[in-house]
Amino acid sequence: MTNPWWRTAVIYEVYPRSFADSNGSGEGDINGIRAKLPYLAALGVDALWIAPWYPSPMADGGYDVSDYCNIDPRYGTLEDADALIAEAASHGIRIVIDLVANHCSIQHAWFQRALAAAPGSPEREWFYFRDGLGENGDTPPNNWISNFGGIAWTRTKNSDGTDGQWYLHTFAPEQPDLNWNNEVVQQAFDDILRFWFDRGVAGVRADAVPAMAKVDGLPDADYEGKPGFRSSEWTDNPHWDVPHIHEYMRRWRRVSDEYSGDRMFVTEAVVSSPERLALYVRPDEMHTSFNFDFLLGSWEPKTLREVIDQTMDSLAPYGAPSTWVLSNHDVTRHVTRFGRKRQQKQLFGIDADDQPIDIALGTRRARAAAMLMLGLPGSVYFYQGEELGLPNVDDLPDEVLQDPMFFQSGGTNRGRDGCRVPLPWSGSVAPFGFSSTTATWLPQPAEWEALTAEAQESDEASMLNLYRRAISVRRSVAGLQGEDFEWIPSGEFVLAFRRGDVTCVFNFGEIPVELPIAGEVLVVSADAHLVEQGLLGSDCAVWIHTV
Ligand code: GLC
Repeated sequence: MTNPWWRTAVIYEVYPRSFADSNGSGEGDINGIRAKLPYLAALGVDALWIAPWYPSPMADGGYDVSDYCNIDPRYGTLEDADALIAEAASHGIRIVIDLVANHCSIQHAWFQRALAAAPGSPEREWFYFRDGLGENGDTPPNNWISNFGGIAWTRTKNSDGTDGQWYLHTFAPEQPDLNWNNEVVQQAFDDILRFWFDRGVAGVRADAVPAMAKVDGLPDADYEGKPGFRSSEWTDNPHWDVPHIHEYMRRWRRVSDEYSGDRMFVTEAVVSSPERLALYVRPDEMHTSFNFDFLLGSWEPKTLREVIDQTMDSLAPYGAPSTWVLSNHDVTRHVTRFGRKRQQKQLFGIDADDQPIDIALGTRRARAAAMLMLGLPGSVYFYQGEELGLPNVDDLPDEVLQDPMFFQSGGTNRGRDGCRVPLPWSGSVAPFGFSSTTATWLPQPAEWEALTAEAQESDEASMLNLYRRAISVRRSVAGLQGEDFEWIPSGEFVLAFRRGDVTCVFNFGEIPVELPIAGEVLVVSADAHLVEQGLLGSDCAVWIHTV
């Protein structure tokens, strides 16, 4: 197929626990997603990426999986999942699932079996079990640190209550790393992929992929002068982005290639450069990869232009499409990020920067940023609630926080719950149509009354209607469907590019600028009256049709 769907798709991330609750449990579920399919179809998305929905003790919001071939009862059943896949297809929407393969849950039968087995047994070879160092084995096997903070090893107890071996966990202690050097682990995941592809899923988002390969012998990491775990700034890390990871990616690709109908993989890989990232999308590996450099880029034209150029240049040799993403379930929502005059690079958790946050400014920029993301060639991922312009909820009380990042950092990092608050759908008080109970798993702010989907529906100027309009224009105008892209010379605070018959202009400055081109206005993010005078307002975007 010459132009598979995933090269240009708009993909909507559903965090199922917070999307829509059909049974009054206070947590979202699959039937809640089914009920909102008409909303998603009207929004114009091509696919849903559903964050993990498998049985899980929820030590890390479902990224600790205890059974890869089932659905957590809080979300429903396999039959509900099948119904969702079928009903979504009838709306022209594909389903992409989330595969967490670096680690499982400590409650997975594989890990329980390994714990019950003896050191050196084949059952323990599914994981990284090692003896501790020192006379009593009470020093961890090496100095690796966890992505969530603290040491990446936990000591087990033997059945007689004595101290046993240690096991490795790149993330929380409840998430033991699987040993991908072991052929039986590889086979198990081939089967898991086939289980879901057979059920009709169109794609797989591969979680935490660079963690899956480790340097042989698990040598100590040289953290001296290094930014700790920060994988985005470090190339020779012995527990991240180790080259034989690509063998595993090729194996997965062979599985997806067994299937018809353009099944795709999107890799979550935060690595040290666009060139390293591009290696994951070589023709026999993953189809696409998230673009974290774009997500981390501050609202500033020079940086964004560099990121866009580097993204396209690094992917070009492999023919892979770019992807663009501004928010997901791991980062501070971008209305809040962009509400600071300057933004810091911060992938996880709440931005430590104490600059005041101006939500009106953040919202204005978020509108323009959505048009940047949707105006670029390639595929787009956006996160539930960003189409409603939701800000991060930074004042959740400590008692309700659930993110392991909060606990493992000893409370110094408040974690990611602030971007995971249940969506406001309708009505004027919490739970805003999310559920029939007010006891939602995280509380919603009262101010969300103005941001419900219902409140935005009939407001032409709402964020929701901007997303709808931009997605529909992206689909219908020739220039935005192809992969053509060319920068147009512009002033210091402006970015402008042409894609066939469409020109997209973005003003990052504090005063209006003259538009470099005239034509029919397709979409404008704000201050439409200025565009009529040939001007583009501060922090505004416009798409112009030119012939
Ligand atoms: C990915 C997920 C994140 C999770 C981590 C461990 O980064 O997006 O939510 O905590 O992997 O699975």
